[in-house]
Amino acid sequence: MRRRAPFTLPVALLAAGCLAIGLAPVVPVAGAADKTAYPEGATAFQANCALCHGPAGAGVPALAPPITSNPARFAASAEGRRQLAMTVLFGMFGEISVGEVRFNSQMPDFARLDDATLAATLNFVVFDLAHAGAEVEPLTTGEIAAERSHALDGAAVREHRKSLAAAGT
Ligand code: HEC
Repeated sequence: MRRRAPFTLPVALLAAGCLAIGLAPVVPVAGAADKTAYPEGATAFQANCALCHGPAGAGVPALAPPITSNPARFAASAEGRRQLAMTVLFGMFGEISVGEVRFNSQMPDFARLDDATLAATLNFVVFDLAHAGAEVEPLTTGEIAAERSHALDGAAVREHRKSLAAAGT
């Protein structure tokens, strides 16, 4: 029995070392994607949005605002949900404040992406990045289609956002 003792510590160290160093490469890519509620939205987000907003939506100073808070708030009201759909469909132009920080730039439109892709992308933003609660309904393809049918320019999208802020939604 006493002979086993010398082996215990090295084995424990080896296991700890594997955990510390080896864990990340061992996790399969599919496993990482499974952690997100909207993996298709995640893929579209990384391809189309991460360049400006960052891979986790934290924003880039003077380039694009963080989208880790407002989208969850917007998704909880009917007008806020319209706002999210409009923003991705038609972009946004003009000064906005996010938290205490002002941005005055232009987001391009993503009308070239189909309704299902935009809904999935927004759901990734709302639930995976902004952590909306379970009481919030996922955005639907139909909600995107409804906004697509009345086109706006980016300045009008920003005006609609102002009406939300005034309403406290
Ligand atoms: C070229 C850079 C760029 C890309 C790419 C981009 N955005 Fe934006 N986004 C912005 C900017 C800039 C604003 C703020 C616009 C303004 O100042 O009026 C913004 C605003 C937003 C807002 C509104 C935040 C709020 O508080 O109202 C959301 C939501 C958003 N983006 C989501 C996305 C999503 C989803 C994608 C990908 C489909 C995307 N953005 C791609 C630059 C970008």
